[in-house]
Amino acid sequence: MRIGPLRVPAGEVALRPPRLLDGGAWSRIRLRDRRYLEQWEPVAPGTWEDRNAGLAWLPQWGTLRGLARRGASIPLVITVDGELAGQITVGGIVRGALRSGWVGYWVGTHVAGGGVATAAVAMLVDHCFGVGGLHRLEATVRPENAASLRVLQKLGFRQEGIFRRYLDVDGDWRDHQCLALTTEDAPGGLVERLLAEGRASLA
Ligand SMILES: CC(C)(COP(=O)(O)OP(=O)(O)OC[C@H]1O[C@@H](n2cnc3c(N)ncnc32)[C@H](O)[C@@H]1OP(=O)(O)O)[C@@H](O)C(=O)NCCC(=O)NCCS
Repeated sequence: MRIGPLRVPAGEVALRPPRLLDGGAWSRIRLRDRRYLEQWEPVAPGTWEDRNAGLAWLPQWGTLRGLARRGASIPLVITVDGELAGQITVGGIVRGALRSGWVGYWVGTHVAGGGVATAAVAMLVDHCFGVGGLHRLEATVRPENAASLRVLQKLGFRQEGIFRRYLDVDGDWRDHQCLALTTEDAPGGLVERLLAEGRASLA
C-alpha cells in the first residue's frame, strides 16, 4: 500500500507501511530530534536513547504490524522525496456503530514547517473516510502545541472540548484539546481542499 504522493514546499510526501529496514533512518531522526519530540509524546518505560535506538525498532515494528493485522490501527511512515521523515498512525479503531479512531503524527526537524504533516493527515483522513470505512477521526493535542493545532485547523478539524490532566507527557499529567472531523465535514476530501487552496499540488 502507498498513499500519495502530494507535493508541498518540503518535497514530495507519501505514506507507506513501516518496514523492518526503516530502523536506521527512524532512529537517527528520533535521537537527533529528542528535544523537539519528547515534550509532546506520552511517557514510556526506559530512557529516550534506549526507546529510540536502532535496535528498538524491531519490537516496535512487530507491535505496529500486529495491531495493523488485527485492524486496530493503520501505522504508516511519512516519506519526503522517498526518505523516511516521520510517522503517522490511526489507532484505537472501533468499528460497528462508532467507526472511529484517533490520529497521531510526528515529523523530523529537517522538514518541519514545510507542509508535510498537513499533507500526511489530509491523505490519511481521505483514506480512512474512503476505503477505510471510518466516520470520525479525533486528535488530542496539548494547548501549547501551536504547530500541531495549526495542522488540524488548516484541515478543518473542530474543537470538541478539553480533556483535563489527560495524558502523562514530559513529566506531568497534561491537559489536551480534543479535535475531531467526521465525513460530513470533508465532502470531496481533504486533499482536494489542500489542492484548491494551493497548499499542495499533485506530484
Ligand atoms: C506538529 C508537527 C507534526 C507539524 O509538522 P509540520 O510538517 O511542520 O506541519 P506543517 O508544516 O504541515 O504545518 C505546521 C503549521 O504550524 C505553523 N507553526 C509551526 N510552529 C508554530 C508555532 N510555534 N506557533 C504557531 N504556528 C506554528 C506553521 O507555520 C504551519 O502553518 P502555516 O502552513 O499556516 O504556515 C511537527 O511540528 C512535529 O512533529 N512536532 C513534534 C511532535 C508533535 O507535536 N506531534 C503531534 C502531537 S499532537
